[in-house]
Amino acid sequence: MGAKTYFVTTYGCQMNEHDSERLAGMLETEGYSQADSPDEAEVVVFNTCCIREKADQRLYGNLGHLKPIKDANPDMKIVVGGCLAQKDKATIQKRAPYVDVVLGTHNLGSLPRLLREAEHGPAFEIVEQTETFPSALPSRRSSPWHGWVSISIGCNNSCTFCIVPAVRGREASRRLGDIVAEVEALVVDGVVEVTLLGQNVNSYGRDLDGTPMFARLLRELDRVEGLERVRFTSPHPKDFRDDTIAAMAESRTVCEHIHLPLQSGSDSVLRRMKRAYNRGRYLEKVHKVREAMPGIAITTDIIVGFPAETDAEFDETLSLVEEVGYDGAFTFQYSPRPMTEAAEFADQIPKEVVQERFDRLVAVQERWSLKRNEAVVGRIEEVLVEGSSKKDASRVTGRTRTNKLVHFSDDTAAAGTFRTVEVTSASPHHLEGALVGGPRRDPRPTLTLPLVSATSGCSSCP
Ligand code: SAH
Ligand code: SF4
Ligand code: F3S
Repeated sequence: MGAKTYFVTTYGCQMNEHDSERLAGMLETEGYSQADSPDEAEVVVFNTCCIREKADQRLYGNLGHLKPIKDANPDMKIVVGGCLAQKDKATIQKRAPYVDVVLGTHNLGSLPRLLREAEHGPAFEIVEQTETFPSALPSRRSSPWHGWVSISIGCNNSCTFCIVPAVRGREASRRLGDIVAEVEALVVDGVVEVTLLGQNVNSYGRDLDGTPMFARLLRELDRVEGLERVRFTSPHPKDFRDDTIAAMAESRTVCEHIHLPLQSGSDSVLRRMKRAYNRGRYLEKVHKVREAMPGIAITTDIIVGFPAETDAEFDETLSLVEEVGYDGAFTFQYSPRPMTEAAEFADQIPKEVVQERFDRLVAVQERWSLKRNEAVVGRIEEVLVEGSSKKDASRVTGRTRTNKLVHFSDDTAAAGTFRTVEVTSASPHHLEGALVGGPRRDPRPTLTLPLVSATSGCSSCP
């Protein structure tokens, strides 16, 4: 009999990518090895997302594709885990009765047991409380040099568009000592860059000590010898405080990039979204972080077509995007989600209006992405090599500390090693570069584009 094999398909965010490493780790501990495609695997896992409606549809499409393959191979076990499983519970059984195992976001660790139970019939288990932090389970890391590290799970906010609190539960922070110990172990294992994960990393520690401890965590991690780069996602603008900005600026390891989700540039929309900040307060934070870390790259998330969004409100988003000049943005069309307040709001915006606004926003953002990238042409950057370029196998791809993709030629560059590269040209989504000797990188860059003006006050903050 051949070796038992598995294949994991991941949808959604970095938390899910990290969870998938744990699902794969547990399967490898059970003696499975990775298959080349889901069609060939004995255990096929879908780690799902339900943040927007499209994510739901994709899962059922993929399950439908597997059905005839499973019919021909009755030993195949299909596992559905993650946020959509947590949300849909019985629906999966109804829509895809051939699924063998369903597990939710709080009981990843039950996978081996549920697979054994599935030998005797479908094994579905959804629990409402987290059993273990994903980082504490065995892992098959997808990268030898990069590590995802959960610092908190769940979310205590109540953004009216968002299903995450319903499927990921209440916020719970992990003990600081456990996080540092995990990062130290990762470094011993060859990791040079970590990304700290939480739905709202700034509120890390509030449930442990009564006060947020994210800044302290960054400073502690900065002392880990051999750790080169620290990234985190996502900070919530309402909780992005001066102590975090100072810790970022004063830490050797914290990279010059922040993903600061905006959602909307309109005060009235932000109020309806229950984001608990306004335009002025958001711009003030952008200004502060740029002042403390000149040249920091700023990226964001924006939702277009939130219920009752008027042309004037959308224009506020456009003008904020122009004012900040983001390095990049994930732009989303609003998608009504069950278990969220906004799904019940009046005045859902017609599809064609949303599409037209969305296209305009993307055009503005593309222009800024290019402008920001062009501003680094000629600079010397430290690049962490990720592997060969997908477009051109003779070139390698890596990332600057500002999280920009750079393609360059280097016959000897191995994934996970650092190179010094001069940026030679720019596109909206990547840079081209040339390998150079000399310093590892320019000292902290000076901003060549205007800083956001700090004119907008914050007197009407919630
Ligand atoms: N915790 C993170 C966001 C996680 S969800 C934060 O608060 O920043 C990732 C992104 O998906 C959000 O920032 C938002 O832009 C988008 N999103 C969430 N719910 C959505 C919905 N119902 N429709 C469209 N986009 C949505
Ligand atoms: Fe969702 Fe808001 Fe929590 Fe982010 S902070 S996960 S958008 S509820
Ligand atoms: Fe992430 Fe999607 Fe769940 S964005 S938290 S996998 S709903």
